[in-house]
Amino acid sequence: MSSELNTVGDVAVITLKNPPVNALSYPMRKAVMSELAAALKDERIKAIVLIGQGKGFCGGADIHEFDTPEAGLEPTAWTVIDALEQSAKPVIAAIHGICMGGGFELALGCHYRVAAKGTQFAFPEVKLGILPGAGGTQRLPRAIGVENALNMIVSGTPVVAEMLAAIPKQTLIDALSNGIDTLLDDAIVLATRMIAVTPPKIRDLPCEQANAAAYFQFARNMTVPGLVAGNAVKYCIQCVEAAATQSFQDGMKVEHELFMRLLASSEFRALKHVFLAEKMAGKVEGISRDTPQREIRRVGVVGGGLMGTGIAMNFLNAGIPVTLLEVSQEALDRGVKTIAGNYASQLKKGKLDQAKLDARMALLTPALSYDALADADLAIEAVFETLAIKETVFKALDAVMKPGAILASNTSTLDLNKIAGFTRRPQDVVGLHFFSPANIMKLLEVVQGDQTADDVMATVMALAGKIRKTAVVSGVCDGFIGNRMIEELLRQAGFLIDEGASPHQIDKAMEKFGMAMGPFRVADMAGNDISWAIRQRRAVERPDLRYSEIGNRLYESGRHGVKTGGGWYDYLPGRRDPQPSLIMEEIIRAHRDAIGIRPRKIDDQEIVQRLVYALVNEGARILEEGIASRASDIDMVYILGYGFPAWKGGPMHYANEQGLSKVARTMQSFAQNPYADPAFWQPAPAIERLADHYDTF
Ligand code: CAA
Repeated sequence: MSSELNTVGDVAVITLKNPPVNALSYPMRKAVMSELAAALKDERIKAIVLIGQGKGFCGGADIHEFDTPEAGLEPTAWTVIDALEQSAKPVIAAIHGICMGGGFELALGCHYRVAAKGTQFAFPEVKLGILPGAGGTQRLPRAIGVENALNMIVSGTPVVAEMLAAIPKQTLIDALSNGIDTLLDDAIVLATRMIAVTPPKIRDLPCEQANAAAYFQFARNMTVPGLVAGNAVKYCIQCVEAAATQSFQDGMKVEHELFMRLLASSEFRALKHVFLAEKMAGKVEGISRDTPQREIRRVGVVGGGLMGTGIAMNFLNAGIPVTLLEVSQEALDRGVKTIAGNYASQLKKGKLDQAKLDARMALLTPALSYDALADADLAIEAVFETLAIKETVFKALDAVMKPGAILASNTSTLDLNKIAGFTRRPQDVVGLHFFSPANIMKLLEVVQGDQTADDVMATVMALAGKIRKTAVVSGVCDGFIGNRMIEELLRQAGFLIDEGASPHQIDKAMEKFGMAMGPFRVADMAGNDISWAIRQRRAVERPDLRYSEIGNRLYESGRHGVKTGGGWYDYLPGRRDPQPSLIMEEIIRAHRDAIGIRPRKIDDQEIVQRLVYALVNEGARILEEGIASRASDIDMVYILGYGFPAWKGGPMHYANEQGLSKVARTMQSFAQNPYADPAFWQPAPAIERLADHYDTF
């Protein structure tokens, strides 16, 4: 059932019932319309209350429905809102929990609104690359003023009911209720009081802004480029300007036209894909939602370096005690100091108060002996990336940890099954690959070993949510999903330098495409000695994998990146912004001479296609091998872990948008280039198969 009609005295109560968030799906819209009609027809009914069941009033349009014919079926959201607004009997929205998007617009169409304290109101549309398209941009400015409304609409950020109610002269919230328990009663009291009053409509309120032209120009100037790609922010401003300068009807026309344009945009398709991909990522194939979980009350972190301390902070932030283990007092002190320093800087920036800082530090126990981990429910190893060192650590963990504890490795490339084999409990071993800085980056690659137990997987996936990470499951392979794919991108980036591109040109082309940072800037920050070590290992394990030699020339010249003051770029002391490097230019020139390549002019399109399609081709192989269970998981890895632009939806979605037959043809053309590792460019069978059927990942 999508909604339900009850009566309390002479008040009809329509309850929205569409779990989990009462999204405005077609069946729900239909049900609300028919219950509204019934309430209007019934002469005994004098007023109507609209309330949501469960966790909130309404989370907005049904995101799953957008691409389906149901989205446009009557009654649409516009029709429902119009019917509520035109009702001759007063309609009161009783709002709790969440009131978002189309749900917020539904509430704005009602004549009065009672909100439970703590309710979050938001127009998150801009985060999907669209705008509130059911009157939100026209009604909200009339209810809370142009400036407040514009802030909410262009930011998408939730605002709590109490703050909205405190806005001078606002007409959005007529009454605050103490909570969900009192909400319906308060709404019925208000409804009864308003029976004899002509229902007021927000649309009839004036909408004014002093110096409108100058104000909206200022708003446009303040828009941060790249905040949300595409035209969403620009159009939001245009709609609110229409609200302030035109009639309600004309403003609605502007809103509708711009909304429809955004609905047809590639940014919207991408951002909607990302929203759904993020929800899907948490679901592990073959593991049901009711799989029992192990309790995680204390976490041990082995290694107090950059990764270990960042990992530890995630748990401290979530109120989970952490034992931090190091081999020497000096290293341990350094680790504790790093954590304290990070919190101190958050305090200075006003992101943390002293009480919270003290509470988090109090949860941290420094330790020098593995025995201190005996009572930990989960230990995460974040030590140096060699199998020999991992062996020592896992044998030690196996010896001290209690039965049922989870043993996790933060390895980014090594064979998790081998690591599990160092213990007598491979079923309790899992990979938890955090991304640096580990306390900030949202991505967590959860590596499922051949023997990892289901309840271990269920536990760590739930734990990821508690520490505010988006977990994506990867099978075992060299580099897992993210690093295995990036390696192919980096190989192509190296070949492009051999052939004539400069690191700066490659970085700029990728940044223009939308990547947060070009690959050579990232490499300089991560350390070129690290990538060199990985190539050394690969040379033994995968002698078939060809690399440009330019990375080795860089390493040999001591240019290890930001930390040595020079890498692909030069760096001034204490600075991280890259400067063009004459030394590097010379190294590249000498390298090309040595391998006998005459540089050619390479355009940005080739750079972007070679680097992004390298991700796509390897991504398709990863899918075929079952390392990732969905293409959308790969997209999440790249958006959250590698700075791929969300508004392009991730590499696999991007390939879908390009058309897989075009992608396959382009790959085949790259295979003609002897310097680009032609064998790699044979399109993965999955791409050819899908392209043949005009299908997508
Ligand atoms: N449509 C369909 N399903 C939705 C949904 C929506 N608008 N919002 C959330 N859900 C689903 C999620 O997919 C998830 O499903 P699963 O349990 O199957 O994974 C479930 O609800 C719970 O979501 P969360 O895990 O995110 O729960 P939360 O409590 O952390 O957050 C929320 C709830 C704040 C509503 C959050 O889900 C959210 O931000 N949703 C998006 C809201 C949104 O963008 N609404 C605007 C839609 S566009 C619109 O309305 C256009 C218009 O003007 C006509």
